[in-house]
Amino acid sequence: MIDDPATISLRSIELDVPDPVASAGFLVSPWGATAAGASGDARFVGGSGPYPYLVGLYPATARAVRSISFVAGADRIEAIAGRAADAGLTVERTPVRDPGGGDGTTVVLPEGERFRFISGAEGVSPGGGDDAPVKLTHVVVNAADAERSAAVCEEVLGFTVSDRTRGMVFVRCNRSHHSIAFARAGYSSLNHIAFEMRDVDAVMRGIGRMRDADAAPSWGPGRHGPGANVFAYFVAPFGAVVEYSTAVEQVDEHYRTGAPEDWTWPPNRIDQWGLSDKDVAALTAAERRFRFAPAMADA
Ligand SMILES: [Fe+2]
Repeated sequence: MIDDPATISLRSIELDVPDPVASAGFLVSPWGATAAGASGDARFVGGSGPYPYLVGLYPATARAVRSISFVAGADRIEAIAGRAADAGLTVERTPVRDPGGGDGTTVVLPEGERFRFISGAEGVSPGGGDDAPVKLTHVVVNAADAERSAAVCEEVLGFTVSDRTRGMVFVRCNRSHHSIAFARAGYSSLNHIAFEMRDVDAVMRGIGRMRDADAAPSWGPGRHGPGANVFAYFVAPFGAVVEYSTAVEQVDEHYRTGAPEDWTWPPNRIDQWGLSDKDVAALTAAERRFRFAPAMADA
């Protein structure tokens, strides 16, 4: 078992993609993830940590986010399900058929984001080496109303807003500064998936592997303001924005929730280092590709 009753943790994301084999192939090499099995035509890729997989890739004609999955204790999930039902949100109970198994409870957020909470999932022995992602560190979602989605996270899911900027609301579900963020995009879609790398060197070697594959970062390397994590963003061949990240700030209940006026940059800076340009056009196009699947087909 990998769910600590005292905590809740981001575990995985499940995507519909046209070609799961090619998508998983990219995430293994050059990206650095590990092959984590197959189920029919679906493919799974993992990392060096205890989770059975980090990204599930299911065959479909249209790209979509099927779910964003967390692990938690059964009691905590029951409390979430109760509050979600009271708030009028759709709650679905589904046995988890993808690697790790367990009991799944999916809460559908106001813009169709499907947050799946899993208890009783099996873990795996850590492996994968120094260049594999350890886990997912965050998923960012584009929202028509980021504040509304963040409010549901706080009031229903028991998460906490860590910071607000002009562009984002950062939400934590444990001591990591953010596991979810909602971008004030004006539409609903996947913004990006961030993989936690072991250290800054692992991020830099990842950028090197991507350069070997003729892929330059769309933004980075750099270090963010909120969360202070190191980042490098790429547009994956399967269409999503993926991020190497490391060293996100760990916070506790004394963390003061920042407001947009707390997070401004001096001229010519949009990160702490100022090393790199941001390919806004490429990133924005990719950030529109994965919408939220209206219902999760049999997984
Ligand atoms: Fe990120």
